[in-house]
Amino acid sequence: MRSKVNINALQNKVNLSEKITMLTCYDYPMALLEEKAGIDIILVGDSMAMTVLGEETTLGMDLDTMVTHAKAVRKGAPTAYLVGDMPYMTYQISKKEAIRNASRFMAEAGCDAVKLEGGSNMADTVEAMVKATIPVMGHLGLTPQSMAQLGGFKSQGRDCAGALKIIEDAKILEEAGISLLLLEAIPPEVGKIVAERANIPVIGIGAGPYVHGQLMIVHDALGFFDAFTPKFVKKYVNLNSIILDALESYKNDVVGEQYPEDGHNYNFMNGELEKLLRQA
Ligand code: KIV
Repeated sequence: MRSKVNINALQNKVNLSEKITMLTCYDYPMALLEEKAGIDIILVGDSMAMTVLGEETTLGMDLDTMVTHAKAVRKGAPTAYLVGDMPYMTYQISKKEAIRNASRFMAEAGCDAVKLEGGSNMADTVEAMVKATIPVMGHLGLTPQSMAQLGGFKSQGRDCAGALKIIEDAKILEEAGISLLLLEAIPPEVGKIVAERANIPVIGIGAGPYVHGQLMIVHDALGFFDAFTPKFVKKYVNLNSIILDALESYKNDVVGEQYPEDGHNYNFMNGELEKLLRQA
């Protein structure tokens, strides 16, 4: 088994120009596989609201559900660097609430860090959380919890002012104490500037090739979620059709009395069936 991935190991990869791998994960069986595949960072993302619970946005996700799933993921992936995603309104209201809520990911689920969305507006909160011993991953660019303000799930930083704001926010968050930064749906050139200027690992999801590592939503990468597919998604398998084939085969087997077969039955112990038939 590899040794536990910690922030120093991630920074070492950056120093050696080795790319960092990151995927989302929401449950124990997938965590076992991501751990086996040697994924460096696992994010228990509030994208679970959409990929697993069928919601149209991430806004309805609650903290208890997130912590429960993070706990299950940690059981399956004991050595990955585990990041718990702070749900909407669990960190925006006050620093005190942010610390208390984030501490549940750390103490109950065994996370290595929590992630929150936002830039300079979150700097004071990040500083307070870090002072309270909670490592924080920042998240800039397309921040799904602000979709009402952004006008939907739209790429960001595609004009000069927008790009400068992301570059400036990245610096402010780093000064506030974040350990890692996630950039979502921005031009590669903006990702490059941020990564080159940062002293922390910068991971991208739709932020081009120049950042220190890549994140994908695991359901996207596996072709298991096709309500919509963002531009940056690469599907490594089409699980939807594989699973659908299996489900239809099962249905056909049951309807056609091909299942169960002899080998699937629980048989009587020696002589017991004859006894039953005499007595029944
Ligand atoms: O919740 C999540 O999975 C995320 C990614 C979309 C970055 O925050």
